[in-house]
Amino acid sequence: MSTLVSLRRRERPAPHDPEFDRDVQAGLGAQVKTLPAKYFYDQRGSELFEQICRLPEYYPTRTEWKILREQGPAIAGIIGPDVEVVEFGAGAAEKIRLLLNALPRPAGYLPIDISGAHLSAAVASLQRAYPDVTMRAVAGDFTKQLPLPAPLPQARARVGFFPGSTIGNFTPDEALGFLRNAAAMLRDGGGVGSGLLIGVDLVKDPAVLHAAYNDSAGVTAAFNLNLLERINRELDGDFNLDAFDHYAFYNPRQHRIEMHLVSSKAQTVTVAGRQYGFDAGESIHTENSCKYTPIRFRQLAEKAGFRPAAMWTDPDSLFSLHWLTLPQA
Ligand SMILES: C[S@@+](CC[C@H](N)C(=O)[O-])C[C@H]1O[C@@H](n2cnc3c(N)ncnc32)[C@H](O)[C@@H]1O
Repeated sequence: MSTLVSLRRRERPAPHDPEFDRDVQAGLGAQVKTLPAKYFYDQRGSELFEQICRLPEYYPTRTEWKILREQGPAIAGIIGPDVEVVEFGAGAAEKIRLLLNALPRPAGYLPIDISGAHLSAAVASLQRAYPDVTMRAVAGDFTKQLPLPAPLPQARARVGFFPGSTIGNFTPDEALGFLRNAAAMLRDGGGVGSGLLIGVDLVKDPAVLHAAYNDSAGVTAAFNLNLLERINRELDGDFNLDAFDHYAFYNPRQHRIEMHLVSSKAQTVTVAGRQYGFDAGESIHTENSCKYTPIRFRQLAEKAGFRPAAMWTDPDSLFSLHWLTLPQA
């Protein structure tokens, strides 16, 4: 059955992305094999991530959602009217509804996501619900210097929105680079009162973290394995999905969940005509999900040029939402 599905998938013309090809070559050719987490999000990966968000074990989405809903008036009071919201990694563009509902007279919404088709569908439906908000979706990689459309004349300032603790997918050094880049992009939009509203997952009992990334329905495992399926489809790979296992654990020294795909036997895999050998038990490191204490995150934000101005959390301190202001350069 699964063979049939993958055969049918492989018959479709596969889009060839030379950057994906180069990154896969570098990652699988390295001594410690890795693949960048941003490649999880093809159409199927984006759909699987939406399923993850609804899992009972996956506390981050519902906790952040509750903080946003309950603190909406306080957040709106701080951000104020007439802003254009730039969302990094908007995904299904669901959480933005809470912010748009709370903000007085939001002027515009500029979501950025690497999963372009998924983003356009989400924004088309959002636009129908908020006809007075100017929406301009940008398909692209937010770790790069992305040229953004010119600021809206009716917007007083651009503010960033980065929910979902996607910041945790970066190592702290990469997160610093991202925050500096985001600060530059938001500053370019000009305006007084610019800043970044960002969701950050907190350090907690490893058992809670372990359950969240090892759900009983196996959706996170399917999300992880979909990366190999994407390589098979788009880069003419021959990964046998039955010969790799999802493995996620909390690394307390690095304060992070690590996701891996572990080869269950010695095997050779071919991708785009290149061969990669795997020992039994050898892993491909596919994702980090770093967890922060509030103070460690605020220090990082300050180092990137932001000023931590407010923080909200839930009663169990599972998740945090920070408002970081951007001092004028
Ligand atoms: C963890 S999900 C969070 C989705 C949503 N913001 C939420 O809070 O539920 C990460 C999102 O960021 C997008 N993404 C990941 N890496 C990206 C990159 N380098 N550039 C642009 N988008 C990226 C993914 O496609 C996905 O929609």
